[in-house]
Parts: sequence; structure tokens; C-alpha cells
Amino acid sequence: MSEQHTVLFVDDEVNILRAVQRLMRNEPCEVVTASRGAEALEVLTRQPVQVVVTDQRMPEMSGVDLLSAIRDRHPDLVRMMLTGYTEMNVAVEAINRGKIYRLITKPWNDEELKATLRQAFDHHDLKSEIRRLNQVTREQNLKLQDMNRNLEGKVRERTKQVADKHQELRIAYVQTIRALAEAVDAKDAYTRGHSERVGVYASKMARSLGLPRELIERVYISGLLHDVGKIGVRDAVITKPERLTDAEYLEIQQHPEIGARILQPVEFLADVVPCVRHHHEWYDGSDRGYPDRLRGDAIPLPSRIILVSDTVEAMTSDRPYRKGLPLETVVRELHDFSGTQFDPACVAVMLRLLEAEGEEFIKKDQSFDIHAFLEV
Ligand SMILES: [Fe+2]
Repeated sequence: MSEQHTVLFVDDEVNILRAVQRLMRNEPCEVVTASRGAEALEVLTRQPVQVVVTDQRMPEMSGVDLLSAIRDRHPDLVRMMLTGYTEMNVAVEAINRGKIYRLITKPWNDEELKATLRQAFDHHDLKSEIRRLNQVTREQNLKLQDMNRNLEGKVRERTKQVADKHQELRIAYVQTIRALAEAVDAKDAYTRGHSERVGVYASKMARSLGLPRELIERVYISGLLHDVGKIGVRDAVITKPERLTDAEYLEIQQHPEIGARILQPVEFLADVVPCVRHHHEWYDGSDRGYPDRLRGDAIPLPSRIILVSDTVEAMTSDRPYRKGLPLETVVRELHDFSGTQFDPACVAVMLRLLEAEGEEFIKKDQSFDIHAFLEV
């Protein structure tokens, strides 16, 4: 405890006060004295004191009256009384009215008195720590209540919006997911915009594959969120420019599962969860895929689409250790891994798109509006 410890001794006998000061000379606390009750109360208004020890028999104000007054004005002070053996009735009163912590009998034993004072300071510090923690708990409870109220308000507001303007909410929802995806990408300067572009490429693939609107939208959102689990991977691993160690590689391989866990509780993303979980499975079911080594059609189609668009996006983007690769290299990679890592149908559709659109397909900073895209 860093707080300076001070004990106040109150006694009308100067000799006693001197003896106490001598006794406490080498103790790690300050000693202040008063010879009257009124003076003691005055000292307490002037400086912080944690422990008070008073004699009972004093002119003007008795020790019990003083302790009782202190209890009213400074309830956190640890109160003790120094009294003779014969004054047991006084002791009882001091305990009842002054609520004292300890009674010390005269003549005192030096070591015992010092030990008692140390305990009194500990007692004071402990109580003030408990008070502080209680206060923190109270404040946090209030904050929580406040947040709950806010949350309830937000939920009501959202529910109304759903009823009133379904489409508007849909757009807001996609924007929120995009913001989340951007937050994930921002963990690494080199992946800015990555998730959005994966979503865009994947949507175009989905449409070329002739998928229904609802599924195209799911592909887009899964694309935006495919790497959301990287939130749970240490930045140091994500941004490490050098080759990853085996342990770090294992750590990064957790991200599809982490992502699925993050999205699991969100009811309206229920269909997206498996797509996120399986976006690194290999089409041939080999153990290079993860987390479940699913194979072929057992892998959700959006995941297979995302894996291809993810690869194209990552290869054509700059990295700390290399510039973006040319399209020919990407096309070769797709051919090489068609049927092993990639679903051949997805590779075929990507190759068709790249053929038709060329460099335009992978141009950065294209604006894309999924709802407008779905209308076409
Ligand atoms: Fe990923």
C-alpha cells in the first residue's frame, strides 16, 4: 500500500505521548499527538490519519466520547483505546459506542503495541481496498445497466427498421459487414481491401455459375467475412514479413474455426458460418486443407468459390516481400491446382472471367454495390 501511514495518539499525560513517540521512532509511520479530544478532532480535519489511539480519562472530553465523535465524522479511521485494567466498564462502552478495533491495556508491552499498530494499518488498508473494489463494482454495474438500456433501445430501433424498411436494413447490414471486413484487413497494411475484393470476385463467379440471387448474396457476404477469424490471431503473426514457423502457421490455420465461432451466435449469418469455416479445405480432401479435410461437394460451394477468388486476389496483390504477380502466373496456378486444391468448376469459371475481363477484373478500388449487382 503506497499510502503514507499516520497514527494519532491522544493522551493528556505528556509523558505517555513522549514514550509513545520514542517507541514508534523506527516504525514506518508518522506519529501525531494531541492532548485533548477537541485538539484531536481538529488534527483529523487537517491531515490524513488512518489509526487513532486514545486514553479514556481526559479532561473536557472522555476517550469514549472522542471515539464516538470520530466514528461519526471519520468512519474509516481505525479506533483503539488505551486504558487501565480496572476500567472494564469503560472498555465495554468503548466497544459499543466507539466501535473500537482493539483495546490496549496500560501498562503496555512495547512489542505488542507496535504489532497491534501494524495490524491496525493493515486492517485499514484492507478495508479501504474492499471499499474501492466495491465502488468499482458498483460503477461497472451502473455502466452495464446503462449499456443494457442502450442495447435494448438499439434492438427496438432495429426491429422497427426491419418492419419498415427491409431493404434499407439489408444495405446497412452489408455495410456493417464490410466495415468489419475492413477492420480485419486493417490488421495488415498489405491486405487492405482484400476481403471486399474477394467478395466481389466471388459474387461474379457465383453469377457466372448461374446461382440464385440469395446464394450470390451469401457468397458475397461469406467472401467479406471469410477471414474474420484473423481478429483472433496475434497481429505479430499476421503481419510477420518473414517465413512463419510451424507453430505460427498452425496459429494462422485456426482462423476459419475462430471466424465460424465469432459468427455462430449471429442468427442471420447462420448460412454463412459453414462457408467461412471451410474456405481453406482442399477439393481433393487432402490434409493440406483445414480444418475438417472435407472433400469435393462436401465443401460448401461458397467456400470453394471463395478459395479461388481468395487465391486470385492474394496473388495479384503486393506483399511486403514481392509485388503483385502477373495474371499468367495466376492462371498457371489455377490450372496446376485444379482438382487438387480447387474445384475444377470454380477454376473454369474464374478462367472464363479473367479471359473476358483481363486486368480490368483485378483492378483495385472498384466500387461495388451488391444490391445493384443482384438487380442486373
Ligand atoms: Fe483465409
